[in-house]
Amino acid sequence: MEIGEKILAVAPMMDLTDRHCRSFHRILTKKAHLYSEMINTGAIIYGDAHRQLDFDHDEHYVILQLGGSDPTDLAKAAKRGEEWGYDQIDLNCGCPSERVQKGSFGACLMAEPNLVAECVKAMKDAVSIPISVKHRLGLNEMNPDHPLDYQFALDFMCAVSQAGASQVTIHARNAVLKGLSPKENRMIPPLRYDIAKRLRVDLQKHFSKVKVLLNGGLENNQMIHNHWDDFDGFMIGRAAYHTPAMLLAWDRMIETQGQDYGYFLNEQTWIEIQEGIIRYSQSWLKQFSAESSEHFYLAAITRHVLGLPHGLGGARLWRQQLSDHRLIAPVKTHQQIEQFFTQASRSLRIFSDENFVTQYDD
Ligand SMILES: Cc1cc2nc3c(=O)[nH]c(=O)nc-3n(C[C@H](O)[C@H](O)[C@H](O)COP(=O)(O)O)c2cc1C
Repeated sequence: MEIGEKILAVAPMMDLTDRHCRSFHRILTKKAHLYSEMINTGAIIYGDAHRQLDFDHDEHYVILQLGGSDPTDLAKAAKRGEEWGYDQIDLNCGCPSERVQKGSFGACLMAEPNLVAECVKAMKDAVSIPISVKHRLGLNEMNPDHPLDYQFALDFMCAVSQAGASQVTIHARNAVLKGLSPKENRMIPPLRYDIAKRLRVDLQKHFSKVKVLLNGGLENNQMIHNHWDDFDGFMIGRAAYHTPAMLLAWDRMIETQGQDYGYFLNEQTWIEIQEGIIRYSQSWLKQFSAESSEHFYLAAITRHVLGLPHGLGGARLWRQQLSDHRLIAPVKTHQQIEQFFTQASRSLRIFSDENFVTQYDD
């Protein structure tokens, strides 16, 4: 990454951003930062670390997101993440789920800035890779227009920066800890990009080197383009997962300072991506067969690829084939993997009309 280059990142998402998802995204963009799902410190320290942490070398720049609130455990887990080859460690201070609150971590940590600072410092002392924190604007009924509630968020960001975090990502809405499900917590509390922007300016008066990323509700590349100058980077969750073709524009966007944000899928681009998916699936088959006694199941990969032709004619048929157990279960060899994806691609309009090009400007 060049100095001063903005960051585009795919957000950490439980049950979604596993190693296969990240490897698929890496086919679409070389520069994006890719996050793991949140992993609890206990699962890393006491669980099957290979299962939790293993990833493909092609995934770099890859960030391990930790859930926890005990400085010693976080330091241990961060150390293990560094040993495993992760490029950065991120601490989750934004998850509002009740399960996570019971473990006293996630968004409820925003109420304990001193403890979070201790956690960041412990991790920072344990590793030499960067530490970052992902958090919300505030908690519950707080009103970010009110000076005290604004200061709450700013104090939190200053505390983690002082402790050694080199990046914070603001999910630009409050977390409501009681009464809203995690899903509702990603939709109902209002988004306040204006407040996130002010927080960046105020934070960087004291910590000029700490990068501030915006997250929440960014649905397409044009929205990122619109806010380009106001943040050091952008983290995209649901849109990146459900319409992954948007990632095709990201390397160009970074190179052109957000100016060039359109992308297109034509036959040639599709074939290149498909070859990448086939190659990755075949290498996973090889690795899996060598290491595991379980049955290989290609759906572990296909489930992340369903949205790739979103907007193209034939996308529904593609999705149907890629999620049809009867078609996927028998795929067990390199040749069958190739045949499976080639066959599914035939349903796309890209291949039925030679001159057909889809240009997305969002
Ligand atoms: C299915 C799902 C799982 C998520 N899991 C995590 C997680 O493990 N860690 C985290 O910090 N945020 C998690 N999030 C929140 C996202 O990282 C992101 O902050 C949120 O979706 C808002 O961004 P978006 O509007 O671009 O999706 C999750 C979101 C979704 C949809």
